[in-house]
Amino acid sequence: MLLILLASAACFHGVSAGYGQRSTLARQQFTKPLQGTLAEHCKDYETQFEIVFTVPGDAAVLNCTLASPDVFDLHSTPYNISWYDCKAGRELSEDLGQFQVRGTMLWFLNSTLEDAGHYQCILRTPNGCFKQKSVLRVDTVKAGSCGRPDTSRQMLTTQTNSFLVCPLLEYISQADSYSIQWYKDCERLLEGDKFSHVGGHRLLVRHVVVSDSGLYTCRVTFNLTGTIGYAAETIECDIKENGVKNKKTSSEQQFCGQKRVVNEREQWSLRPIVYQPVNEMVKAEYGGHFNKTCRVFVPSKGNLSVDIYWASEFEFISTNLSDRVHQLHLSEENVDDGVLLEVLLNFTNVKEEDFNQNYTCMIFSDKGVVTSDFILQPSDRNGIIHPVLLFVSLAVTFLISVTAYKIFKIDIVLWCRRSFPYLYTRTGSDGKVYDAYVVYPRMCWNGFHGSAETFVIHTLPQVLEKKCGYKLFIYCRDSLPGEAVVDSVQENISKSRRLILLYTGSMFSELASTLRFEQEIGMHTALVEGTVQVILVELEEVTDYSLFPQSVLHLKRKQGAIQWWKAANKATGHSQLCPSSRFWKQVQYQMPVKSSHASSLQ
Ligand SMILES: *[C@@H]1O[C@H](CO)[C@@H](O)[C@H](O)[C@H]1NC(C)=O
Ligand SMILES: *[C@@H]1O[C@H](CO)[C@@H](O)[C@H](O)[C@H]1NC(C)=O
Ligand SMILES: *[C@@H]1O[C@H](CO)[C@@H](O)[C@H](O)[C@H]1NC(C)=O
Ligand SMILES: *[C@@H]1O[C@H](CO)[C@@H](O)[C@H](O)[C@H]1NC(C)=O
Ligand SMILES: *[C@@H]1O[C@H](CO)[C@@H](O)[C@H](O)[C@H]1NC(C)=O
Ligand SMILES: *[C@@H]1O[C@H](CO)[C@@H](O)[C@H](O)[C@H]1NC(C)=O
Repeated sequence: MLLILLASAACFHGVSAGYGQRSTLARQQFTKPLQGTLAEHCKDYETQFEIVFTVPGDAAVLNCTLASPDVFDLHSTPYNISWYDCKAGRELSEDLGQFQVRGTMLWFLNSTLEDAGHYQCILRTPNGCFKQKSVLRVDTVKAGSCGRPDTSRQMLTTQTNSFLVCPLLEYISQADSYSIQWYKDCERLLEGDKFSHVGGHRLLVRHVVVSDSGLYTCRVTFNLTGTIGYAAETIECDIKENGVKNKKTSSEQQFCGQKRVVNEREQWSLRPIVYQPVNEMVKAEYGGHFNKTCRVFVPSKGNLSVDIYWASEFEFISTNLSDRVHQLHLSEENVDDGVLLEVLLNFTNVKEEDFNQNYTCMIFSDKGVVTSDFILQPSDRNGIIHPVLLFVSLAVTFLISVTAYKIFKIDIVLWCRRSFPYLYTRTGSDGKVYDAYVVYPRMCWNGFHGSAETFVIHTLPQVLEKKCGYKLFIYCRDSLPGEAVVDSVQENISKSRRLILLYTGSMFSELASTLRFEQEIGMHTALVEGTVQVILVELEEVTDYSLFPQSVLHLKRKQGAIQWWKAANKATGHSQLCPSSRFWKQVQYQMPVKSSHASSLQ
């Protein structure tokens, strides 16, 4: 109720002129509650200069131009718009079905004579209020007239191809869909040699002659949220005579370094020449700026009559420089017998929707319409696709690297040790004497235990000591006779950097006491003190681990065991001594970096 009072009060101010009688009535009805206006001080923007005309049955659109940066900070401030019918003194309600409010616009879809009058829009922001009136005039159509009572004027020039513009832009731009029909007087204009529709709302008139003058009406049929509406506007078309007359003289024409002799008649038949674009594909970077110049030579003498526009498939490109995609006239240079013109199509920020579109430079001249276009394409799929590709290739590279490292880890590490020895701290300084203490199933020299002992006594020292330069401690070989077992084992393990534990399936079931002791001390040093690392070497295939000590099983699970029996079975002849076989590489990998002392022995 308060709003209604406010509205009516607001409307009374300045309404009286044309509608005195009605507003007097309204005033009588609402004299008392005028104090409502005092409560809300809306800044008054008076009456909009432009009057909206329509006829009964047609649509009309009022626009509340208060929603403008000139009035308040449009982008950061929320606002509401309400419309009031000044005559009826009430807020307009969409429920009645006569109106539709869309954004800043008030639509009358089927105007009646009673709709004529003043309408007030009140725009409220959290801390401000603005009001403005608009005038709607509804005129009756004279019987037998095909146009609208009120007309606007446009001018065409003879001998040119020019166009008329349908002024009903609000309907065209705001409706969900629309179609336009053009009429000259009462006759519908069909597309053909003389007329065509261009850019949605323009009528191209070719080879304008004096008799083209007259009344043209454009009629828009539109669909606004499912309701069909009509609007029309009549244009009074005046024709201006082009002063240029044909003369039969010849002239020399020079452009682009070419000299040509053309006579006047021939010259007139010359159509504009487009140097750029040339129906091509042009690449642009997503997100960057991009521009393309339409460069045209128009052969002409005297007055130039030419219009050049950039258009996309759907519409003419905006000439508003603040739009993301806009066009502007760059230059117009008079050269011999013609004019060179440049119109720039400028993208301040290329978006995805711009790609694969046809951009056409349209030249309307007295010698005809010439078009030339280009299609914008993303450059090398960069931009949209590139981040994905980049990610995929990084992921693939990463996976390949990880896999390669897993497969070639040992080779890579050994190669690094060989190639960049200075990267590794030399192990000579740690006070240890041996690179590895070897624990193996044995009965000291009295009786061989088959190939396992051959391996320990012959192969291992052969390769690791002779070929690779490591220093090993092998009990029985290196222990001094008479030395106490406990002292010897403990001392020598503590002097070693690694403990090589060679085992067989049965070893832990028939462990001799020295061996058990060695193994226990070794495991203790490795797992509890952490001062020595264990290298597990499986001498034969083991199927039953039930008798294995937990510490060994734990290590095996954690770091795995190097399987000699696999290498030994495959290896033939002397190749098993070759340190570059997989088995020896695995051993070397787990062995410490060679001590300076050891390598100096090599
Ligand atoms: C309506 O008015 C607003 C604010 O002045 C303006 O930005 C907008 O372009 C107008 N709409 C039409 C269709 O004229
Ligand atoms: C706009 O109207 C809504 C609902 O009527 C209201 O909640 C909101 O506060 C109004 N906003 C302003 C800026 O007046
Ligand atoms: C109007 O447009 C709506 C969708 O916007 C569509 O469903 C409806 O069929 C259209 N009406 C006519 C008569 O074309
Ligand atoms: C068009 O783009 C090119 C390349 O980005 C730039 O060098 C040139 O200055 C631009 N031209 C205009 C008129 O903005
Ligand atoms: C074209 O757009 C770019 C990017 O916004 C701008 O820097 C340049 O001035 C524009 N060129 C012209 C001629 O307006
Ligand atoms: C681009 O537009 C021109 C003129 O409208 C047309 O001749 C050409 O076939 C179009 N090209 C594509 C690929 O759509």
